[in-house]
Amino acid sequence: MNKQRLFYRLFIGLFFASSVVFAQDEADLPGDPDNGKKLFNAQCGACHKLDKKMVGPALGGVADKYSMDWIIAWTQNNAELRASGDKDAIAIFEEYNGAIMPAFPNLSEQDIKDIVAYTIRGDKKKAPSGDGEEIAAAPAAGGDDGMNMWVILGLSIFLIVLIAILAKVKNTLKVIKGEPTSTLLEDASVFTKIAVRNQKVIAVATVVVAVFLLQQVYWGLMSVGVEEGYEPEQPIAFSHALHAGENQIDCQYCHYGAEKGKHSNIPSASLCMNCHTYIQEGPKYGEKEIDKIYAAVGFDRESNQYIDGYEVKPVKWVRIHNLPDLAYFSHAQHVNAGNIECQTCHGPVEEMEVLYQYSPLTMGWCINCHRESEVDVENNGYYEEMHGKLKEKHNTDKITVDMIGGLECGKCHY
Ligand code: HEC
Ligand code: HEC
Ligand code: HEC
Ligand code: HEC
Ligand code: HEC
Ligand code: HEC
Repeated sequence: MNKQRLFYRLFIGLFFASSVVFAQDEADLPGDPDNGKKLFNAQCGACHKLDKKMVGPALGGVADKYSMDWIIAWTQNNAELRASGDKDAIAIFEEYNGAIMPAFPNLSEQDIKDIVAYTIRGDKKKAPSGDGEEIAAAPAAGGDDGMNMWVILGLSIFLIVLIAILAKVKNTLKVIKGEPTSTLLEDASVFTKIAVRNQKVIAVATVVVAVFLLQQVYWGLMSVGVEEGYEPEQPIAFSHALHAGENQIDCQYCHYGAEKGKHSNIPSASLCMNCHTYIQEGPKYGEKEIDKIYAAVGFDRESNQYIDGYEVKPVKWVRIHNLPDLAYFSHAQHVNAGNIECQTCHGPVEEMEVLYQYSPLTMGWCINCHRESEVDVENNGYYEEMHGKLKEKHNTDKITVDMIGGLECGKCHY
């Protein structure tokens, strides 16, 4: 009986010790890092990252650089702080060529402390860092809330190891005393018997399972509204893999708008009919999905003719990519002038059975590429004369988009 008690105490003790350790870790922070993370993502993330310079400096470690009062004053109104003659504020402003950070008068001191707490603690679990580019299609869901899950997993493994060690110790004792030894399996079943008899152990186990389930539900909710990877069901099972991949149809045969204008059009059903007047069955769905094209344009399969006086019903494709109105993006600028492949931004579309959003489409994503991409000056009349001057000015052969003004707010926001 004593040994059972000991074991049970250890179990409870460990469980709570671990939560105390975590609580203490966070108690040293100036605020609530989880709230800080939300505020950061909503208000600061367009210009700052923790570990990387973007429009503004990396904010990881900012608490070592300045006092909390300074950070609060800066964030609430950086222009006012500069006007007061603060040397640090003027220095950082000049270092960033006078780029304007907006004032955040609505953030309270506690809000900013929470944000700072987040810059200290960082993300609980780092997402696997690829090549440093943002365009990797890592599903953004949940990632850093994984800690609890790891705690539970770690504890479970620890418990199993503990049972094994106890069994070993018990056996060794038996060997010393010259008694017959038992196997781990027998000991494990002893443990279950103890557990079944001891309701407190069951209660704890229930809590562990409940926490785990809640965690799963929470993850599910967190992924609502995360648009990267957004893959809605479409009214017709149209496959890019089949059309652009297997049958090698050029992207711009259907999306002809991309070359000329701001928007890349979605083709109308009558364009589909260029081929589907003849191709009346598909390899996967037979007549079923192609019949939906016919229903849209009013084509009769039996007579091979359009129905007279039929009112065309446009196919209601669900839009996948959608920038907010405040941002201006032009396909022609990138596809035509920039010579950028569709796949650079949209990923391996020719392999997608169902199309999904590959890139995050955040401001940071646009900016990062503008910092790194060279302007294709050779094949572009417009830049020919500017070209020499820029090379001289920046003393380099590599002219990147930021040098032609690609980081100016007004280029993307009017
Ligand atoms: C629209 C872009 C933008 C947003 C949004 C933004 N910042 Fe900034 N931030 C900057 C720029 C640019 C600088 C560099 C200084 C300058 O040019 O004014 C900067 C500098 C800073 C600095 C000084 C860092 C250092 O290392 O010297 C802090 C602290 C800071 N920002 C905090 C925040 C916080 C907190 C938020 C969110 C509440 C935020 N910023 C939102 C653009 C932004
Ligand atoms: C046969 C015509 C056709 C071809 C060829 C084609 N597409 Fe599409 N594309 C469509 C249709 C129809 C949709 C809307 C349905 C969907 O999202 O799957 C679409 C949707 C898209 C979308 C998502 C639009 C949104 O809602 O945000 C992108 C991005 C895209 N195509 C890129 C490409 C690229 C890149 C290629 C070449 C590799 C390509 N497409 C080739 C017909 C085509
Ligand atoms: C340039 C020719 C061309 C155009 C334009 C075209 N398709 Fe297709 N489509 C094909 C080919 C080729 C197949 C495959 C036929 C096969 O393998 O038997 C196909 C097959 C299909 C299938 C059957 C899939 C299956 O596995 O059963 C559907 C559905 C389909 N297309 C929808 C569309 C839609 C919607 C459009 C217009 C947005 C469109 N297609 C435009 C050439 C085209
Ligand atoms: C530099 C990155 C980039 C490149 C290159 C690019 N796109 Fe896009 N694409 C975007 C962005 C950003 C959006 C969202 C635009 C919006 O919501 O206004 C988008 C949206 C779309 C859409 C939805 C309709 C629209 O215009 O909003 C289609 C279709 C599309 N792209 C197809 C293509 C095709 C086909 C190519 C190659 C010919 C291509 N894209 C090249 C970034 C790119
Ligand atoms: C894959 C790299 C890449 C991405 C991602 C990208 N761009 Fe660009 N962008 C370029 C290149 C290259 C040019 C220069 C094109 C040229 O030669 O005119 C450019 C030019 C521009 C220009 C014109 C700049 C000027 O000074 O004339 C605007 C505006 C622009 N991009 C907006 C955006 C927006 C908004 C986004 C995000 C939604 C975005 N870009 C994402 C590569 C990119
Ligand atoms: C290369 C294009 C580009 C440049 C340059 C750019 N932005 Fe943006 N900005 C965007 C895009 C795209 C979005 C929308 C991002 C999203 O929806 O996640 C955006 C969003 C924003 C937002 C709204 C954030 C929100 O949560 O709604 C603000 C504020 C902003 N930008 C300010 C600025 C300021 C200030 C500058 C100049 C320092 C600037 N931007 C430069 C592309 C750009």
